[in-house]
Amino acid sequence: IENTPQQVAQWAANYIIQQIKAKEQVTKSPFVLGLPTGSTPLETYKELIRRHKTGEVSFRNVITFNMDEYVGLPEEHPESYHSFMWNNFFKHVDIKPENVNILDGNAEDLVKECADYEARIVEAGGIDLFMGGVGEDGHIAFNEPFSSLNSRTRIKTLTQDTIQVNARFFGGDTTLVPKTALTVGVGTVLSAKKVLILATGHKKARAVRHGVEGSYNHQWTVSALQVHPNGILVCDDPAAEEL
Ligand code: GLP
Repeated sequence: IENTPQQVAQWAANYIIQQIKAKEQVTKSPFVLGLPTGSTPLETYKELIRRHKTGEVSFRNVITFNMDEYVGLPEEHPESYHSFMWNNFFKHVDIKPENVNILDGNAEDLVKECADYEARIVEAGGIDLFMGGVGEDGHIAFNEPFSSLNSRTRIKTLTQDTIQVNARFFGGDTTLVPKTALTVGVGTVLSAKKVLILATGHKKARAVRHGVEGSYNHQWTVSALQVHPNGILVCDDPAAEEL
């Protein structure tokens, strides 16, 4: 538990940098990093960019896999997760574009796209560290309440709650929010060697309580972190208020 969202971001950035460097020392294989969108990780991305600019960390030998993407939203739409990631992170660091993996929500065969994504993760050697945020209802990636805790990458129908919460990115108009998304599964996240979930603000306090102190269950998919041997949740004071 940190005091502020900035401290959460610093903690997360420190951890990511330390993990990248630790792997660098033992192997030339790329570091495989799972990444989220949302407002929560924005500060962490800023901190990573800042530390990259000072020469402290390079992303040249990093492969990334994003958690999710809306179905049917053009890639160039400002609210697509493709746009989000390039605007807020990738274009500011030295990552090789061919090392960036984001689900294609416009693929002709969405089922195949999901299966191929899982195969690409395996081919890359598995995810070393998966960073994620958490929804107010406890979802990780787009694993809405009642998702199977063994789920892999698939198409998911968004709940009305998520559509309403995400409408803020679409001028407040719920009808403009895509109704479905492609998302890595809870099982995909749990298969990563390390998992780091960030939660800031009082709105996340209930999800943090259910995730940390509630039972391991598929209603609050963040609770799956409890069974991960290297699962870390970093939150600020307001997000920890219900613990
Ligand atoms: C979306 C994303 C999640 C994210 C959640 C919370 O549903 N698919 O990956 O964790 O929003 O977002 P925020 O950090 O903006 O609260």
